[in-house]
This record gives sequence, C-alpha cells and structure tokens, in this order.
Amino acid sequence: MKVLGIETSCDETGVAVYESGVGLLAEALFSQTELHAQFGGVVPELASRDHIAKLAPMICDMLFEADLQLTDLNAIAYTAGPGLVGALMVGGSLATGLALGLGIPVIPVHHMEAHLLAALLEDDPPELPFIGLLVSGGHTLLVETQVLGQYRIIGETLDDAVGEAFDKVARLLSLPYPGGPALAALAERGDPTAFKFPRPMRNKGLDFSFSGLKTAVRLALEKTKNSDGELEASVRENIAASFQAAAVDSLIGKCIRALDATGLKRLVVAGGVSANQRLRTQLRTACAKREVCVHYPRPALCTDNGAMIAFAGWCRREQALSVPTIIARPRWSLNELTPMH
Ligand code: KG4
Ligand code: ZN
Repeated sequence: MKVLGIETSCDETGVAVYESGVGLLAEALFSQTELHAQFGGVVPELASRDHIAKLAPMICDMLFEADLQLTDLNAIAYTAGPGLVGALMVGGSLATGLALGLGIPVIPVHHMEAHLLAALLEDDPPELPFIGLLVSGGHTLLVETQVLGQYRIIGETLDDAVGEAFDKVARLLSLPYPGGPALAALAERGDPTAFKFPRPMRNKGLDFSFSGLKTAVRLALEKTKNSDGELEASVRENIAASFQAAAVDSLIGKCIRALDATGLKRLVVAGGVSANQRLRTQLRTACAKREVCVHYPRPALCTDNGAMIAFAGWCRREQALSVPTIIARPRWSLNELTPMH
C-alpha cells in the first residue's frame, strides 16, 4: 500500500510517499523561512498562499523523480490539525480533491501524533509502553502511551511552548527567524553556567512553564547591555547557552519525574525542539543512568515534514474517511484520539 502524505500545518510544505513493508519511497520539503523572516514570525495568510503555490508542483516533481504515477497511490493522508486553519485548508483541499479524482481513500492525520510516530520510522523503533515528550513551536506535552493511538496527557505547558520560548529568546537576542536553530548555534560558543536562569516548577508536578525563564533572560539582557544598548559578543553567547541549559534541564527534569511516576523505562522524544543537540546528549546521559531507553527520530524527521504524515496516515489507514472530506482543526487535543487496530 502506497500512501501520499501532505503536511501544510504551518510554514513547511512537506510531501512524501510511504509504502508498507518497504519504507519511504520519496520525499520533498520546502521551508517558507525566507518568506516570513522579514516579519520575525509566521504570517498565516502568506503561509497559506505559498502552500497553494508550492504544493501541487512539489507532488508532481516528487512523483516524477521517484518514477511513480498518481495512479500508483492507494491513499492520501493530510494534516488535519492542529495548526493554522488557512494553511491546513490548503493541504486538506488538495488531498481531498486528488483522492476524489483518483477514487482512493483520504486519511486525516493529527500533526502531533505524526511527530511521535516518526520515531517508528527508525531502525530501532520503540516498543510499547513509553512516555512521549512532544516539543514543538506550539506544544510541550508529556504523554503516557500504553497502546498506539491512545495518549494520556500527563504534563503540558502552562504558558509558552518550549519552541516558542526558544523563538522569543532568539528574537530578544536579535537572531533571525526561525529562532530555535539559530539560538542553539549561538549557544554552542557560550558558557551554559554563566547565568543562573530559573528552572520553573522543577520539583512540582509534571507541567511545564517557560514564560518566567523568558522574562529572566530579558532582565539579564537589560542589565548587561552597555550604555549604547549593545551587548558584548561573549555575553550574548553566554546568555544563549545559559537559556538553552535551563530550558533543556526543565524538559529533562519533567521526563525523569514522568518516568518515575509511571515506572516506565522507555522515552520517545519528538517535535522540532527534539532536533536540539544539547537536549539529545543530556537526555541520553540522564536516561542511561536510569536504564531508560530513549528514542528520537533522525533530526530531519524532528521538524515538520511530509514523511511523518505519510507514515501516520498508513498507521491510521483504518480511519480513512468513507466520504472524502476537508477537515481543518486548528485546536485538536491528542486526548481525543482513539487506539489503532
Ligand atoms: O515541530 P516543528 O517543526 O513545528 C511545529 O509543529 O511547531 O517545531 C518548530 C519549533 C520552532 O519553535 C523551532 O524554533 C524549534 O522547533 N526548533 C529548535 C531546533 N530546531 C527547531 N529549537 C531548539 N533547537 C533546535 N535545534
Ligand atoms: Zn510540528
């Protein structure tokens, strides 16, 4: 069975074909970074328009390069939410129209479930049960996963998502959008112990909070700027490194608490921020000490992409819509999903 996956929930146009028993046959990704960089963040209307311009030609080119025809496809999966409603509508409309034309099923996919399932595309897929840490631009979630498709949210952020905190702090440091990778690169040259930033709610519950950390960075910046309002290069690097260390510590602390609370010995980390090298290394060390196995998708499958949608669509093939319908759900909790069979 060959499934075409279409991702258009935010600022990446992603397409891919997954074949059961074989793997990924083709993929293509276009990032709208340049389009939004001048505004310092994603402009939803521009995102939708660019998805419209790019999506159909990308599918044609990808199929051509992989020597595939539209008629080879057996189903089409698309991101139905959560995400920007206009952007979701573009992917949903194209998927639905194409599926109707080809007479094949269409499968709506939950974007965050797709992030989590991306770990199953790797050579050493995690066994069940596991704790999932989902860290992206819009979400920071800890999910207890006993069976695939049913997720119990045991922790979430009370304010900013961790990716959003990376992006906001990057902006405070005048780094270009998207901030996360730029901040991580700057942090590599700094001292992570130079500033003592808070690790909010470290010893309390499983929920996260990142807005206090962002405020602490803003205050540190105000204090360390010289009379011309400029920042020494080394101070800037140290602030970036110290922020990253605090954010990573907070994530790791809550993962350990979640593992202890549930007695589970497996952790799956996914979503854009899971591409962060410090998070990956430090979590590996913390988990090794506790004999916990930690799984990540490869970095290219951590940030938004079409491959995870094609694969999640295949996993969800039994939930294909009998009548192809455009579903676009800007808000959609993982709690609402039902087990796969
Ligand atoms: O999953 P994703 O690509 O899109 C959403 O579903 O939101 O995640 C994007 C988020 C952004 O906030 C971005 O700054 C962050 O992931 N990010 C990173 C890194 N790469 C992407 N944050 C920290 N370090 C990175 N290397
Ligand atoms: Zn995402």
